[in-house]
Amino acid sequence: MTDTRTVAVTLGERSYDILIGSQLLEQAGEEISRRFPGSKIAIVTDTNLADLHLPTLEQSLARAGVTSTSIIVAAGEVSKSFVSLQTVVDQLLTAKLERGDFCIALGGGVIGDLTGFAAAITRRGMGFIQMPTSLLAQVDSSVGGKTGINSHHGKNLVGAFYQPSLVLADIDTLDTLSQREFCAGYAEMVKYGLINQPDFFEWLEGNWKQVFAGGAARVQAIARACRSKAQVVARDEREAGERALLNLGHTFGHALEAATGYDNTRLVHGEGVAIGMVLAYEFSHRLGLCNDNSATRLVAHLQAVGLPTSLAQIPGGVGDIEGLMHHIAQDKKVNRGTLTFILVHGLGQALIARDIAAGDVRSFLIDKLGQIKS
Ligand code: GLY
Repeated sequence: MTDTRTVAVTLGERSYDILIGSQLLEQAGEEISRRFPGSKIAIVTDTNLADLHLPTLEQSLARAGVTSTSIIVAAGEVSKSFVSLQTVVDQLLTAKLERGDFCIALGGGVIGDLTGFAAAITRRGMGFIQMPTSLLAQVDSSVGGKTGINSHHGKNLVGAFYQPSLVLADIDTLDTLSQREFCAGYAEMVKYGLINQPDFFEWLEGNWKQVFAGGAARVQAIARACRSKAQVVARDEREAGERALLNLGHTFGHALEAATGYDNTRLVHGEGVAIGMVLAYEFSHRLGLCNDNSATRLVAHLQAVGLPTSLAQIPGGVGDIEGLMHHIAQDKKVNRGTLTFILVHGLGQALIARDIAAGDVRSFLIDKLGQIKS
């Protein structure tokens, strides 16, 4: 068993701890009853995780004398919907949970976003605990308070900034992920090195095999990623400025996800982010912002762990330039012909570039699309 690490998110009266370690599902009841005595719990999870992890959490809460009810929604993005939100809120009210009680989000990013938003609006704000079970959720979506659902107008368009009161990231749950899912989460971990922690990127280059193997190195890497995100969130909770850096690779990545019809068999979010980060580095190089070998190092590292790094690796392709430009404009609004992108001066030197000419993005992507065919 590895030691548990604690990372603090410092946000005044909304500050909270992130605990990262092994067997935290088993210890959750004790931890929650100690931190929030007398509170009732609703666990929100999905149909896949209900079999894998729910019984362990329910038993842990029962052992600690904590009353709980469980709400199970369909697995997958389909649950980030008004219909699922209504189901969860209805069940919270049926179970007579009060404002001082807590929802636990037991799952990946979808469950965290849905549960957090349900907690934010039920009784004008109930307690909320994140128990992320995917690597992506442990290093990114469970930290920082972005919650919400999708609308037919687009992803994450309805939601709230609503911080959890506690994050329990049990690394044992990662053992049930497929290699592909783990890799996808790893892309978000690499992102922190690329934004402002070049020493972390270098550490990952040397230690990624141990991170994939599990144990202390995995805890160390997740804690480092969470600390990095916590620092950014503490300085800019509502993304007035610096927090936008966390979107490195995401504008290109979201466009690729949209261009593949959000078909997870072709491209999952983290893979889109991996390719998107490479595109951000290559585009920065093309614009003369970055003149070193960062892009080559990034590609080499992502390839070593098994992540895709180019458009050519996306099964079924990504359509034409008009489609890609449309998706990019949807993700970050065009303002008088210019776009906002997260670009880089080098490894660990990301910047917010607010005046990127749409024509430059277009000609860069035309070249990238050309490379698929050649
Ligand atoms: N995932 C980006 C953020 O939380 O701001």
